[in-house]
Amino acid sequence: MAESPSLGTLSLPIPVFLAPMAGVTNSAYRRLCREQAELGSGGIRPAGVFTCEMITARGVAERINKTFAMMAPDSGDTIMSVQLYGTDPETLARAIAVACGERGVTHVDLNFGCPVPKVTRKGGGGVLPWKLDRFEAILRAAVQAAQPYDVPVTFKTRIGLDDEHVTMYDAARLAEECGIAAITLHARTVEQAYAGKARWEAIAALVNATSVPIIGNGDIWEAADALRMREETGCAGVAIGRGALGRPWLFRDLAAAMVGGQAGIPTLPTCGQVCAMVRRHAELLVEHFHDERHAMSDLRKHMAWYFKGFHVGGDLRQQLGMVASLTHLDDLLAQLDPNEPFPARELHAPRGRQGSPRTKVTMPYGWLDSRTMDGRDLGPDDMDAVSGG
Ligand SMILES: Cc1cc2nc3c(=O)[nH]c(=O)nc-3n(C[C@H](O)[C@H](O)[C@H](O)COP(=O)(O)O)c2cc1C
Repeated sequence: MAESPSLGTLSLPIPVFLAPMAGVTNSAYRRLCREQAELGSGGIRPAGVFTCEMITARGVAERINKTFAMMAPDSGDTIMSVQLYGTDPETLARAIAVACGERGVTHVDLNFGCPVPKVTRKGGGGVLPWKLDRFEAILRAAVQAAQPYDVPVTFKTRIGLDDEHVTMYDAARLAEECGIAAITLHARTVEQAYAGKARWEAIAALVNATSVPIIGNGDIWEAADALRMREETGCAGVAIGRGALGRPWLFRDLAAAMVGGQAGIPTLPTCGQVCAMVRRHAELLVEHFHDERHAMSDLRKHMAWYFKGFHVGGDLRQQLGMVASLTHLDDLLAQLDPNEPFPARELHAPRGRQGSPRTKVTMPYGWLDSRTMDGRDLGPDDMDAVSGG
């Protein structure tokens, strides 16, 4: 098994990452996960890396307040990890200088995995590594911009655009040349989006092909899966996205498993304990958004995840999905049976986005014709984030 990554100057005793998830991994959710990880790590800190949702480099470079609000830190965290999205090296470098120099960011991850057509249509996210010259220019500019702050730069990518257009090996070679601290590999292609099973054999292949630490990602639903992924692939660490949706306590199990080398019995909260977690999540969201209505509207999407498999009547489920205030939330939670045990059949089961593969990867006209930009202008990046990579 590979050594734990150190991520440049950051020590990482527990190589577990909360994968960036747009619309999910804001400071409130990151804090919930981190607190759980610290319960499982036996006092070892940092108990993981909890990455902010994807932020547009342009919004940071231009010091947009809305963007800064999205990257609000989880104040108790020792690592402030932000994922940036952009296609322009110069804008990304400016964003990194602002993020590290003015906003306390201590780890920068770059998004080269997003399959969303709005992003790939413009040559960004998962299709960018196809253009080797632009990709290299971004890596060099990012590492150079982060260097004065001793901040490690990593990136998150996929196997390739599709099976005929694999990019991960070239990406790893350039990562090595440019001083990238680690690569997170979501073991699917852009074409696959979230469909089918993650191909862990691609993680093993990349581990064997590069000296850059590889963080394996895709289809970890329980702590035992994380240990199995490390065992089967030799990856230096693991990143978890959907498995933690409505289950921040998964990080407790993950941290304990990484410390002890064995997955114990999974945490199985009763319905009452889940309600307490939802209440805490709600309070942290109010702190994050400084606005109760906004906080409740963010919480709504988490309800189906938190109560998946519990006996919640259709009516109550619907009302939870429309919660409007903390008092309203308390009224609704009080209607649930606090002693109901955790529905164990939900363990090991996929959750969150799945869907079918894309019929075709959306990309700029003629994108696949060559591996270089050939004078192509991608235009300015969007200022607003998109929903997910
Ligand atoms: C709601 C949602 C939002 C996501 N947003 C991002 C994002 O902003 N950046 C990114 O690199 N990946 C994003 N992803 C992808 C995840 O980070 C992760 O790579 C993917 O879900 C596979 O890992 P998993 O099987 O552990 O979920 C998102 C996924 C979901 C479900």
